[in-house]
Amino acid sequence: MAVLLSDFKNLSMMKIAVLSGDGIGPEIVAQAVRVLDALKKDGLAVELEYGLIGGCAVDATGKPYPEATHRLASQADAVLLGAVGGPRYDTLPRHQRPERGLLAIRKELNLFANLRPALLYPELANASSLKYDVVAGLDIMIVRELTGDIYFGEPRGIEVRDGQRVGYNTMIYNESEIRRIAHVAFQAAAKRQGRLCSVDKMNVLECTQLWRDVVIEVAKEYPQVALSHMLVDNAAMQLVRNPKQFDVIVTGNMFGDILSDEASMLTGSIGMLPSASLDENNKGLYEPIHGSAPDIAGKDLANPLATILSAAMMLRYTFNQEEAAQRIESAVKKVLAQGFRTKDIDEPGMKPVGTKAMGDAVLAAM
Ligand code: IPM
Ligand code: MG
Repeated sequence: MAVLLSDFKNLSMMKIAVLSGDGIGPEIVAQAVRVLDALKKDGLAVELEYGLIGGCAVDATGKPYPEATHRLASQADAVLLGAVGGPRYDTLPRHQRPERGLLAIRKELNLFANLRPALLYPELANASSLKYDVVAGLDIMIVRELTGDIYFGEPRGIEVRDGQRVGYNTMIYNESEIRRIAHVAFQAAAKRQGRLCSVDKMNVLECTQLWRDVVIEVAKEYPQVALSHMLVDNAAMQLVRNPKQFDVIVTGNMFGDILSDEASMLTGSIGMLPSASLDENNKGLYEPIHGSAPDIAGKDLANPLATILSAAMMLRYTFNQEEAAQRIESAVKKVLAQGFRTKDIDEPGMKPVGTKAMGDAVLAAM
């Protein structure tokens, strides 16, 4: 079923910066672009422009986030990103590493709100390493703060003190940073099941005591949301013990990095999970939460669904096109129900497909 042209009428031409990155990035992004192209034919007014980020940008310009890419991304309404990094770049000086490009675009575009849904498709329940009953029906949203914390805190470094090397970083949040991510999380919870769990380590870390205090203050504005708190070590345990107790989780940058990888495995494959990173005006960067998987790059083996689902999130959050977003998500459900599986989610009796054939299947299902 085609989305009616009129659904797209209120949209003036929107610009998407496409940054495919390294490893499997170009292959998976290509499939998401095919999906966007199909929606364009149905009237979605978007134009795509390509730029470099990560290792490929270092190769071309010496920098993981070149000025030209920053200009392109700043002027765009949304960014679609593949993945960055590869073993070739791991020995470069730190400021040239591909990961720095990712951190730079997040920081410079002020993309502080990272939404990482962990949704288990019933068809993939057996791909999860947890028992069926523990994960069936799982639907969690992790809201990760993305532009602060120990990732960006100063001072940081490795230096010699008293004749030996010391390494140090700074975990730091100011209250406005905590407040704005708390608002995003409360609003997300209000639209879902109305439960928010804030994760910290307030028994040890002052920075996260402030986190808890500020989240409690913000809670007064959201009486419809039930707020709870959990220490991060316990949260890591509860995620595998009884993940369905969670609706929305809000946490800082580093804890969110770790817990979102953990949550992804509940769903069977990290190859299935999209993400959105938003600024205060819902401009967003959309990317799969997995990495560049250099070991399978160029082999037509990667799962493009997380990137395709990231395009759906883009339509929902930045372009306000809920119906088009659901059209993509339904198509993904359909191809799973039809038995199409890339290697990461394959099971006996299913139809194994490569990256491109999975893209074909999604397009056919749309
Ligand atoms: C992620 C990644 C990044 C992060 C790396 C690649 C810098 O692990 O998006 O979760 O730590 O944020
Ligand atoms: Mg991570």
